[in-house]
Amino acid sequence: MEQYVIKGGNPLVGDVEICGAKNAALGILAASVMSDESVIIENLPDVSDINILIKAMQSIGVVVEHIDRHTVKINSSMISSTTVDSVYIKKIRASYYMLGALLGKYRKAEVALPGGCNIGSRPIDQHTKGFKALGADVRISHGHISTQADRLVGNHIYLDVVTVGATINIMMAAALAEGKTTIENAAKEPHVVDVANFLNSMGANIKGAGTDVIRIRGVEKFHGTTYSIIPDQIEAGTFMFAAAITKGDVMIKNIIPKHLESISAKLIEMGCQIEEFDESLRVVASKRLSHTQVKTLPYPGFPTDMQPQIVTTLAICEGMSIVTESIFENRFRYVDELTKMGAKIKVEGNSAIIEGVSKLTSSSLSAPDLRAGAALVLAALATEGISTVDDVVYIERGYEDFPEKLRSLGALIEKVSSEQEITKFKFKVG
Ligand code: UD1
Repeated sequence: MEQYVIKGGNPLVGDVEICGAKNAALGILAASVMSDESVIIENLPDVSDINILIKAMQSIGVVVEHIDRHTVKINSSMISSTTVDSVYIKKIRASYYMLGALLGKYRKAEVALPGGCNIGSRPIDQHTKGFKALGADVRISHGHISTQADRLVGNHIYLDVVTVGATINIMMAAALAEGKTTIENAAKEPHVVDVANFLNSMGANIKGAGTDVIRIRGVEKFHGTTYSIIPDQIEAGTFMFAAAITKGDVMIKNIIPKHLESISAKLIEMGCQIEEFDESLRVVASKRLSHTQVKTLPYPGFPTDMQPQIVTTLAICEGMSIVTESIFENRFRYVDELTKMGAKIKVEGNSAIIEGVSKLTSSSLSAPDLRAGAALVLAALATEGISTVDDVVYIERGYEDFPEKLRSLGALIEKVSSEQEITKFKFKVG
């Protein structure tokens, strides 16, 4: 089994380049099948969730050509099926984006029900409510969700909860429906805006993305485009916390500082210095950081995908902190791993009550999901000894070259797949 082996204790120092946003890329890749002309997507992160979606698209006849590591050329004029049921698709949450994309283009779609990270029950009722409002029939049986419509007609849709997935899915289907659609209580995340901008670059008419009311005037068909994906807010945030937890000094490059405001604000409150530039941020932590309170919220609030990273950092900050998770109910499973390292964290309902300790100790850890996995790596970087993190497949779903990027900042971390390699690492780092 592949693991990361980490010797902590080094402050991270240097520059790190952030990749394209995984969650925007998933929506944009799926939406690219809606055009019959060639679509070029740039700044695509090379992570397993993206590569799985590409394989699933290829399984229905989409031609995907890799121009370089981060650029693909997509041609969807030869799609031979609207049923996406490859071995791949069940592994990722964003498989549901194929529903909105294919329903919009072909008025018909069937997709094996989504998997993804186990961070709580993840209903899709708002997606189906939206498709139905556009006139589609939706059925769920034998682990598949299928939808079809004779005509897709625009409608007024109020989302009962703020959901990124349903906002994007409905936006895609409505973009090729007849007439006008309004999505109220829409999600405002940067990747919702990025997918809307991408659809508009193919000829869609979508206004208001980034606010809670999105207005879509359906068009008949899309043309080709070349589009570059926005930087990854969560990868950037993770490296910001990596700097904070190791008392480092890191320049996070190729980012949109505006997207990181809620994260920067918390780090400043905790005692970090943050310098903002046009497309980069410098995070410096020169002393022991202090406690804070935070509640995860839809954008522009503090992201749920940054919750494990802030809890982990607060575990060694001075004082008592409270972190409340308001988006997913099962997102504190990694806390047991931190407890093994000496953290004092009590989970009560949807809050973690954290009594900061002066240091964590090294341990053998297991990544329970993508973001918690990254947070455990940060925890290991903050200890003096040697730790291992198992189940790194989760981390690789969303972080490109994570160990390599950390190493470039001075971290001692290696990906290994045998005891022998761990021994070699221990010998090397002394
Ligand atoms: C996306 C992100 C994920 C992030 C989350 C919240 C992708 C691939 N994943 O997930 O990394 O943590 O946004 O920012 O982009 N809900 C319903 N009914 C629905 C849909 C959602 O009740 O039909 C609820 C969910 O249970 C959750 C909340 O709405 O409590 C937000 O979920 P949503 O924004 O849809 O998350 P995802 O799109 O799955």
